[in-house]
Amino acid sequence: MSAEHAADLPKPEHPRPAQNPEHPRPAQDPERTESPDGTGRIRTDMAHNARVWNYWLGGKDNYSVDRAVGEQVVEMFPGIGEVARADRAFLGRAVAHLVGERGIRQLLDIGTGLPTGDNTHEVAQRIAPDARIVYVDNDPIVLTHASALLTSSPEGTTAYVDADARDTERILRAAAETLDLGQPVAVMLLGILNFIPDTDVARGIVRTLMDAVPSGSYLVLTHPTLDADVGGADNQPAMDFWNANATPPITGRTRAEFLSFMEGLDLLEPGVDSCARWRFPEAEPVPQLGAVGRKP
Ligand SMILES: C[S@@+](CC[C@H](N)C(=O)[O-])C[C@H]1O[C@@H](n2cnc3c(N)ncnc32)[C@H](O)[C@@H]1O
Repeated sequence: MSAEHAADLPKPEHPRPAQNPEHPRPAQDPERTESPDGTGRIRTDMAHNARVWNYWLGGKDNYSVDRAVGEQVVEMFPGIGEVARADRAFLGRAVAHLVGERGIRQLLDIGTGLPTGDNTHEVAQRIAPDARIVYVDNDPIVLTHASALLTSSPEGTTAYVDADARDTERILRAAAETLDLGQPVAVMLLGILNFIPDTDVARGIVRTLMDAVPSGSYLVLTHPTLDADVGGADNQPAMDFWNANATPPITGRTRAEFLSFMEGLDLLEPGVDSCARWRFPEAEPVPQLGAVGRKP
């Protein structure tokens, strides 16, 4: 990182969203276990994933340090913007499918990211205004934007939980205040298990979450890969650069590892593919795998 960037006085270009009087901003939660850097504070001296992802998506909720790292990753991996857009488009198609065609009315979206176009509750409640959505993230800047995420339709509900994905017990306890965990839930883990470096730990998170929801629930997953058939073969240097300059550290996974997260679930067609191509076969692949599985 250049000294120029480090010395910049980083200010988000986007003002903090106005308080929605019906959904006051959640306070910093003293129970929270982790933030990307373990401090629970907004760090402006280090690039954070939620903000860089926002930058790649063309958003303004990021700091100069995020833009600097984001641009360097673009130089090493020019397709990263396309990955982010394909991931969001996959989110839209998967949520629309589950709510519109499979009757899902409850969604638990872990690793929410900063609000952007067509957030989960917007896609779901456009189809079913009574849909209930619980968002979870551990980034303090996502927390400051939570009120913008809590703009539910009057018939439905949205809630935000400030928690680390590893703290599944806390996530499930908090989610149960909004969702009926005796009824099917779509558990969404989009672009987040890649920030859990130990594959066994990541698998344990998935298993605990899916064990807590009934038959007829779904797992919606995306994950970056270094697999060559979807264009990931040359991306290790960009990931190494990320890990040296940003937080949290990222890891790519193979299709076989991705499939292991889906163990015990029935994969919806077309199975595991580049998320760009999931139910959109004419798209160019991006090195981000995507799939939806149903709990039998
Ligand atoms: C790549 S973004 C994906 C955002 C959104 N799911 C999407 O697909 O557009 C990953 C998000 O996961 C969050 N995240 C990363 N590690 C996390 C963890 N251990 N617990 C909770 N959230 C985490 C980041 O803060 C970020 O908002």
